[in-house]
Amino acid sequence: MKTIQLPGISFPVSCLCLGCAYYGSRESEAVSFQLLDIFYERGGRFLNTAHEYGRGLSEQTIGRWMCDRNVRDEMAITSKIGEDHDKPYARAMKRHELLEDIDETLSRVGYDYIEFALLHIDDPEVSVEEILETMEEIRHAGKILYYGCSNWSVDRMVEADTLAKQHGYDGFRVNEIEMNLARSNPANEVRTTKWVDEAYAAYHRKTQMAVGAYSPLASGALTKLIIDSELNNSREYNKRAYATPYNLEIARRLYALSDQTGHASAQIQIAWLLSQPYGFPVFPILGARTPEQLIDCLGSLDIALTSHQLAYLKPDKDLYLKGEFDK
Ligand SMILES: NC(=O)c1ccc[n+]([C@@H]2O[C@H](COP(=O)([O-])OP(=O)(O)OC[C@H]3O[C@@H](n4cnc5c(N)ncnc54)[C@H](OP(=O)(O)O)[C@@H]3O)[C@@H](O)[C@H]2O)c1
Repeated sequence: MKTIQLPGISFPVSCLCLGCAYYGSRESEAVSFQLLDIFYERGGRFLNTAHEYGRGLSEQTIGRWMCDRNVRDEMAITSKIGEDHDKPYARAMKRHELLEDIDETLSRVGYDYIEFALLHIDDPEVSVEEILETMEEIRHAGKILYYGCSNWSVDRMVEADTLAKQHGYDGFRVNEIEMNLARSNPANEVRTTKWVDEAYAAYHRKTQMAVGAYSPLASGALTKLIIDSELNNSREYNKRAYATPYNLEIARRLYALSDQTGHASAQIQIAWLLSQPYGFPVFPILGARTPEQLIDCLGSLDIALTSHQLAYLKPDKDLYLKGEFDK
């Protein structure tokens, strides 16, 4: 697998990252190890987890796998801290909460540092100053190499960048955010997470900060929009977030392109992200549930979409950036 050099990071990472959210919980340890092995064999060296995933089971599972396969030194690990599902809005960004989270994360993974810690869901009630000071404290203690954010507003990211410059802090190096061919339904008000819209795209083009694209297949919704006829058999969340006329049109185009090229829909969606479509560095965070799905997703490495195909998938690129498709 190709490696990429993310801006501001001193080592290369594999161009695909493996999302391990359900490892050890929805996916058994045996299946999780199988998925990790497949990814590793294809050259994948970049894993994504979070303190909250499976209440620690995800971090424990990847830690056990790395120890069992003796591959810790080869892997770059991202975990996310500062989220607590037992709290209202799931936020836990105070100093003591971040310090507790990172120590728990390290003890679950079983190693004394990880490469990246990202702030999972922002809490605007906590000052950016307190958060950055805490992340610097964690970095100086040698527990992480870099830090970044996930699901933060552009305004708060700009505030963090300004503060980091003023104080000579390392600052955010990666933003993990939803990015895929779909457009999240604006009527889906309950979500605390964010997706790459016009404002994020402009911010990332300007700063060149890398985007870790989570939910690269829109949680599987685009495939299901066609197969399950408008997501009827899908999870409630998917229906709320993705069942829109716009996404149905994208799903139709994916289906047509898949039919014409023989590439699976998932491969086309990931290849689109790998094409760096908006002019800033992106690495997709794969969410395959089964070995078959993962092998299918990894097939994206073997295809290159033509400019015509890319344009066909995002025929609205200009309009998209102007938000025209909400009308
Ligand atoms: N920072 C955050 O707030 C945040 C939020 C979400 C995710 N993440 C990270 O991103 C990772 C991936 O997110 P995600 O699970 O939403 O990714 P995703 O790839 O968009 O969705 C995964 C789902 O897509 C379907 N799928 C996967 N491979 C497929 C294939 N080859 N063909 C057809 N369908 C396929 C499966 O649906 P079925 O299960 O229905 O088969 C699977 O459960 C997570 O593991 C996590 O590490 C981060």
